[in-house]
Amino acid sequence: MNAGTVKIAHLSDLHLSGWSDRRQISALDRLLAHFVAEGFDHIVISGDLSNSASPADWKIVRDRLEKHGLYHCEKVTVVAGNHDLINLEEEMRFYNVLNPFAGLKMMFFQKRLREFCNFFSELITDGNDTVPSFPFIKVLNFPSVSVAIAALNSVYPWFPAENPLGARGEISIGQLHALANPDVLASLKDCFVIGLCHHAYKVYGTDALIDQAFDWTMELKNREKFLEMMKLMHVDIVLHGHFHRFQTYAVEGIPFVNGGSFRYDVRRYGRIEIAGKGRFTQKFELLAEK
Ligand SMILES: [Fe+2]
Ligand SMILES: [Fe+2]
Repeated sequence: MNAGTVKIAHLSDLHLSGWSDRRQISALDRLLAHFVAEGFDHIVISGDLSNSASPADWKIVRDRLEKHGLYHCEKVTVVAGNHDLINLEEEMRFYNVLNPFAGLKMMFFQKRLREFCNFFSELITDGNDTVPSFPFIKVLNFPSVSVAIAALNSVYPWFPAENPLGARGEISIGQLHALANPDVLASLKDCFVIGLCHHAYKVYGTDALIDQAFDWTMELKNREKFLEMMKLMHVDIVLHGHFHRFQTYAVEGIPFVNGGSFRYDVRRYGRIEIAGKGRFTQKFELLAEK
């Protein structure tokens, strides 16, 4: 590690699909071993760990992190993606047969989100009595700088008309209120602040009319509210995934990083080096071929 800098690795959209996909799991092992060897201080995974909302895939991530001695709040932060919480086939079947009511659907969704938080509780809380939930803020104190990670859930339940692919996102009002608390905002003062969620601020459109018709099904519905919150928190950078593109862009002076997809490029990852409040570099690295 360069003296005085904090090194963060950013991975996204693993879309694991069970133990049978040995190629992808060994690629994950290789990348995690690289992070350890390179002395990364922290790893951020911005959602879609599983491809089909299977806790068995979450367990693969947990096992791999444990194997490399990384399964700890200080070492790794994860947020949920739509593919972690929503199984489209199941949703449709469930909707048709049993559950046409929005309130019930929201209740089941919240239960699912709690399952994710409980599963990864060691990465959300540091073992105190706090119930693991979103949003959460993690402050990591390094000799040169304190880094605060403000993690929000942006996954929104599947609804047949409003969220037909389960891929549309929203930051709940409750989360926005929680973060707007003056004590919370004060705790971020002097920290290098990283905003984190699964969905993109940017609407990834194409020129093809047929694609434009589908743009909204992937969007973060209340992205302007999200941006307002990022400004209020004076974030230095926002990390996300969801659209499988390795890309950086800026919105009103705030740098955003789309972490792309590990599933589609198992050697590429984002590297952020933080030198102090407001001082950092970001680039995408490509791990050498074996
Ligand atoms: Fe994804
Ligand atoms: Fe996604």
